[in-house]
Amino acid sequence: MKRKQLVVGNWKMNGSLSDNEALLDGLTRADGLSTLDVAVCVPYIYLAQAQERLGSGSVSWGVQNVSEYDAGAYTGEISVTMLADFQVSYGLVGHSERRSLYAESNELAGIKARKLLGVDITPIVCVGETFEQREAEQTFEIISAQLEAVIEQIGLENLGRIVLAYEPVWAIGTGLTASPAQAQEVHGYIREQVALLDKVAAGAVRILYGGSVKPDNAEKLFRQVDVDGGLIGGASLNLIDFLTICRLAT
Ligand code: 13P
Repeated sequence: MKRKQLVVGNWKMNGSLSDNEALLDGLTRADGLSTLDVAVCVPYIYLAQAQERLGSGSVSWGVQNVSEYDAGAYTGEISVTMLADFQVSYGLVGHSERRSLYAESNELAGIKARKLLGVDITPIVCVGETFEQREAEQTFEIISAQLEAVIEQIGLENLGRIVLAYEPVWAIGTGLTASPAQAQEVHGYIREQVALLDKVAAGAVRILYGGSVKPDNAEKLFRQVDVDGGLIGGASLNLIDFLTICRLAT
């Protein structure tokens, strides 16, 4: 039996009040989503809009980042307690764009995951290798280090409370996607690593695939035994494409 699938849209720095309204209302009205979990990670400034539009419906909302600090003189930052005020369900941590453009370390991703868990927001921990790392056959090593740093922060007892996302950096926004076999190989590896620490958590943890998932490639990716859904960038901005991908996960 497959785990309950989860499809998460990562809007990145896209959107406007009017575009979002159409997208959020379309998601609220959509049918065929009752057998999976669906969420959208919106820019902070649109959280109130997401909360208002998605309300008590079946689609959840999340964020793309969070501060590692609790409160105080951190100009421009948003804390976990602020997110809790808006009933946020998920928070991305360690996205490759945060790692590469904002120099976020493995350790920082772990600290942010721990902070989110502290207010019962599910961290979606993103891991993945660059093209050069894959070419140099360092994929597993890189992913292990990214995972270990997070587990060190959150503690083994919280392994069952996170979502993992494998996002090969070379597949993000490039139109290149991991083949279903490449995705399964890494997802299987990630699950094995978790199983070494906690067999029950390994059976339950959801591992999403992200990187140029589109309506025409989603089905084969989602069919892999260790792929439990997707983290969708560009295609999540188009209602029809996103809904199609969600339905392919069921
Ligand atoms: P794309 O689907 O646009 O490649 O983005 C993937 C991603 O980074 C989701 O977090």
